[in-house]
Amino acid sequence: MDLNKIYLGDCRELLDQLKDTSIDSVISDIPYGISFDFWDVLHKNGNSALLGSSPAQEKAGKIFNKRGKPLNGWSEADKKIPIEYYNWCRSWTDKIFRVTKPGSSVIIFAGRRLSHRAICAFEDSGFIFKDMIAWNKEKAAHRAQHLSKIFERRGDLINAKRFEDWKVGNLRPIFEPILWFMKPYKSGGTIADNFLEYNLGAYNEKIIFNYNQMASNYINFESKKTDCGLHPTQKPLQLMKFLIELISVEGQTILDPFVGSGTTVLACKILNRNFIGFEINKNFFDIANNRINDHLRMENLF
Ligand SMILES: C[S@@+](CC[C@H](N)C(=O)[O-])C[C@H]1O[C@@H](n2cnc3c(N)ncnc32)[C@H](O)[C@@H]1O
Repeated sequence: MDLNKIYLGDCRELLDQLKDTSIDSVISDIPYGISFDFWDVLHKNGNSALLGSSPAQEKAGKIFNKRGKPLNGWSEADKKIPIEYYNWCRSWTDKIFRVTKPGSSVIIFAGRRLSHRAICAFEDSGFIFKDMIAWNKEKAAHRAQHLSKIFERRGDLINAKRFEDWKVGNLRPIFEPILWFMKPYKSGGTIADNFLEYNLGAYNEKIIFNYNQMASNYINFESKKTDCGLHPTQKPLQLMKFLIELISVEGQTILDPFVGSGTTVLACKILNRNFIGFEINKNFFDIANNRINDHLRMENLF
C-alpha cells in the first residue's frame, strides 16, 4: 500500500493489504458504538426509534436529532449492545496487532460508555493497556431533562415541586477518554533496546510543555471554529498534532483506520509523518482528501 494516501473502503478488509509490522503507530477516533450516527450503529438492535428523532430532540437542534431511544435497562436487545461492540472491535484489533511494530503505540478515542469493551478487545488481541488520558474538551453539548417537567406534564404539581432539583440523564460529558495501548516490545531485549531499534515504546515529555499541558494524563484542548463543520465528531487539529508528536518521530508511518474528515492524517502531513488512512464513507473520504490537497496547495504558495 502507498504511503500518504487515504483508501476508500472497510478498514477490516483494507488492513489485510498491509504488510506485517509495517506501521509505527496507530492514532484513531473510532466509532464509539453509541448509535450517534448511521456509521456508529454496530449492533443488531433494530428498534424502531433508532436514529429517529422525537419532537423534543428536533427542538434541541442538530446534535441530538439522530440519537436512538434512550437505553432503558430492560430491553434484551439493548443488553447485547456492549458485547456486540466488543466483537466489532475484535474484528479489527487482531489485524492492528499484526501490522504494528514492537513497542508501537496505539492511541484510540473511545466513548465513556463502551470504552471498557474496546480495552478488552485490544488486550485480548495482545496489546498492553498503558494508560487512559482524560481529554477535557472545555465545552460539550448536554441535555438532561428536569424530572419536574415530566411531573408537570402529568399535572402532578406536588411532585414537580418536590423534585425540582432532580434531572434524568448524564452529567455534562466534558471529558473524553483517550486509550493508549502498546504492542509488547521485542522479547529478550529491554525497552531501551527496542527504542534504539524502532524509535518506539517511549514518549517525548518536552512535547507536553510545548503544547502548554501539565505533565500528566489530563489534557485540555478546545475545539476552535476551524475544527468544526466537516464531520459530526471532528477532533481538534491541535489535539491530534499533540498526540502524534508525543509518541512518534518525523518520517514514521501512522495509520488511521477511521479517518472521518481526515484530522489525524492532516496533522501527520503537517508534522512530516507518513500516513495511511481508511474511510468507508465516500463523502468523508472526499472531505479528507480535499483537506490534504488544500494543505498541499497552501504549502506550495509559501
Ligand atoms: C469517529 S469518526 C472519525 C472522525 C475524525 N476524527 C474527524 O476528525 O473527522 C469515525 C469514522 O469512521 C468511519 N468508519 C466507520 N466504520 C468504518 C470501517 N469499517 N472502515 C473504515 N471507516 C469506517 C465512519 O464513516 C466515520 O467517518
